[in-house]
Amino acid sequence: MTLTSDPSLAKRPGPVQAELLAAGAWSARHGVARFALSRARKQGDLQAQLFTDPAARADPFPIYARIRSRGPVVRGKFMATTASHAVADGALRSDAFGVVSDPEALPPLARWLMTRPNRTVGPVTPPSLLAVDPPDHTRYRKLVSKVFTARAMAALRPRVASLADELLDGLSGRSDIVGSYASLLPVTIIAEILGVPADMRSQFVAWGSTAAPVLDVGLSYREYRRVDRAIRELNGWMSGHFARLRRSPGDDLLSRLVQEEESLTETELLAIAGLLLAAGFETTVNLIGNGVSLLLAHPSQLALLLAEGGWDNAVEEILRYESPVQNTARRALRDTEVAGVPVRAGTFLSILIGGANRDPAVFADPERFDVRRANAREHLAFSSGVHYCLGASLARIEGEEALRRLFERYPDLTAAGRPRRRPTRTLRGFDELPVALHA
Ligand code: HEM
Repeated sequence: MTLTSDPSLAKRPGPVQAELLAAGAWSARHGVARFALSRARKQGDLQAQLFTDPAARADPFPIYARIRSRGPVVRGKFMATTASHAVADGALRSDAFGVVSDPEALPPLARWLMTRPNRTVGPVTPPSLLAVDPPDHTRYRKLVSKVFTARAMAALRPRVASLADELLDGLSGRSDIVGSYASLLPVTIIAEILGVPADMRSQFVAWGSTAAPVLDVGLSYREYRRVDRAIRELNGWMSGHFARLRRSPGDDLLSRLVQEEESLTETELLAIAGLLLAAGFETTVNLIGNGVSLLLAHPSQLALLLAEGGWDNAVEEILRYESPVQNTARRALRDTEVAGVPVRAGTFLSILIGGANRDPAVFADPERFDVRRANAREHLAFSSGVHYCLGASLARIEGEEALRRLFERYPDLTAAGRPRRRPTRTLRGFDELPVALHA
């Protein structure tokens, strides 16, 4: 469906009306799911456990293995789930599956809440690329895909490398490697590509990490309101920035997009720009942080990399072993079959990317972290099919340069305190990773 109603043109609701609308949107997206998940968990449902159990946030892998042992598609109380690589890949590539956020698939009230004027334009609701099917998806993706080709990104490698060195120059003694390095590298690069001021990077990181739980299911009302506020603040700033770029465009992606005004509404612009900015740094920070943590925990693997190289394959293995995006979902648009399993029209399928990436049918001895693994690149960490990550080439370059330059400069880097995991479940990584740098 084409979404033309533009929230930016709508009249602002009063405070009471705004609170009622927020409560409605929360119930439709999170409240009902929160209640159903909590009931299902008490009844032993594995998927509900995955989405609500605090222990499963720290270590979801045993639950993935249990789900996989029950079959390629496991029908739970909440929705169907898969931790099978063949099913995950098959469903992501199949045109018999679509996104779960198509308003047409929702009950009337939820549909209205999702499409009403003055709704919050975020990464998981239309018209975000992540939340629309072709043909809308094809049209939006075409507008931005040229900028992110493997070739265009390869030309950026020297800039990524010099920025990594510059950030490392600023470190000494004890540091939180996430706050002072892993988060700053990707946000600066994506800011430069898009044409948003890199000196606002701390503000972008703050908005991004407050908004990151938006990808999870079953948020509390308080959390939902915090997330919603951060997205609205970012959107407010972004609209002002579009106005500045219309007056004096630069040589960057957003300047080009604001000039597409005939084909893009303000809502579509906000959705594209917000997703690119947030996806550009909220995920790669986890690749770098997870990489540091894994290499510190596996010193012989690090020694191998320092002696013989092979950082590109190490990045693939980090993506496989500790996938920064652990899950996504799709809805069957018609009766179909995936990897030999029949799936009925309307089925919601939770795709456990982190589980597929440890499927022993594809990866021998999958619980072993092996930077020399020959088929590490078969992971689904960047998804598959039409929604395959637009920034995959950029993320690979950033991960490789960030990790290689850090460990080559500080080969004796050690952990220096308790790491703090991010509170999110879909995004897997660290908020804080204290290290000691021994030059
Ligand atoms: C290690 C880093 C990254 C990981 C693990 C990652 C992962 C993913 C995944 C799993 C999806 C698809 C989700 C689905 O199929 O439902 C996706 C889509 C996307 N990613 Fe990334 N991503 C990363 C970095 C980036 C970067 C640096 C950018 C910057 C441009 C980016 C931009 C996007 C966009 C725009 C989409 C939506 C594509 C579409 O729907 O057509 N990502 N990413």
